[in-house]
Amino acid sequence: MTSAPLPIQRKFGETLRRDLWWLPPLSVLAAFSAFLIYGTWSALQSWGYTYGPYFSPFHAPELWGPTQHAWFGPRPEWWPPILFFPALLILPFPGLFRFSCYYYRGAYYKGFWADPAACAVGEPRTTYRGERPFPNFLQNLHRYAMYIAIVFIPLLMYDAWLSLWWMDGGGVERFGVGLGSVIMWVNVALTAGYTFGCHSLRHVIGGYKDRLSGQPVRAACYAGCSKLNGKHATLAKASMFTMAFTDIYIRMCAMGWITDWRII
Ligand code: FES
Repeated sequence: MTSAPLPIQRKFGETLRRDLWWLPPLSVLAAFSAFLIYGTWSALQSWGYTYGPYFSPFHAPELWGPTQHAWFGPRPEWWPPILFFPALLILPFPGLFRFSCYYYRGAYYKGFWADPAACAVGEPRTTYRGERPFPNFLQNLHRYAMYIAIVFIPLLMYDAWLSLWWMDGGGVERFGVGLGSVIMWVNVALTAGYTFGCHSLRHVIGGYKDRLSGQPVRAACYAGCSKLNGKHATLAKASMFTMAFTDIYIRMCAMGWITDWRII
C-alpha cells in the first residue's frame, strides 16, 4: 500500500497550541493502562470474583469454574489447573469489542502511540498509512464483535437480577438489595447504554437506509441508538469505570476488607 505524505510537516510534539492539549492523551494513557493491568490481573484470579449473590462482570458468564454460578460445573478433569482461568474463556469477546470500538481507537491511538497526539501537533511519523496494514485492518472485526457484545447485556442483567436474591439462614432465597446489587445494576445500565450506542449497530439499525419514513419501529430504534451514540465516549469511559469498580467492590467484600451495605 502507498503512504500519503502529511500536508504539514512538524517535528514530533511541535505545535503552536498553547492549551493543555497533552492532558487528554495522557489521561487516556493512564486510565486505559490502569484498566488493562487491573483487568488482566483480575482475569487471572480464580477466586474473589463472587460474594453472596454478587458476581463480577469481568468473569461473567462463568462457563466452567469453582463457583455455583458456573454453567457447566467445575473444571473438567482433563484441563490442567495451571491453564485454567475462567475469565479468559469469555473476556476476549467483550475485550475485542472495546478494543476495536471507534471511540477507543481514536483515544488510544492518541494516548498510546501519539498518532496523532492531538490536532495540530507534530506526529512521530511523516506519512499516513491508514488502517489497512496488518494488524490495524483487524479493527474491522468490530462489526461482528458487536453482535457478541449485545448477547452479553442480558447475561449481565441476569447476574444483576441474581444479586437481588439472598440465601437466608434457613437456606431459603429471599429478595434483598445490597450496595453491591445497586453497583451491578448501574454497571449493566451503563454497559447497555455504551453497547446500544455503537456506531456499527446504528448503521445496521437504520444508518444504511436512505430514508426511514414508513418504518416507525426502525425509526424509533434508530433515534434511540443515535441518542446514545451522541454520548458514546462518555458511556465508554463510564462503563469501563463501573466494570472495574464492580469487580473491585465484590473482591473487597470477598476478601473481608469491607462489609457490604444491605439496604433492604
Ligand atoms: S463504535 Fe464504540 S462500541 Fe461500536
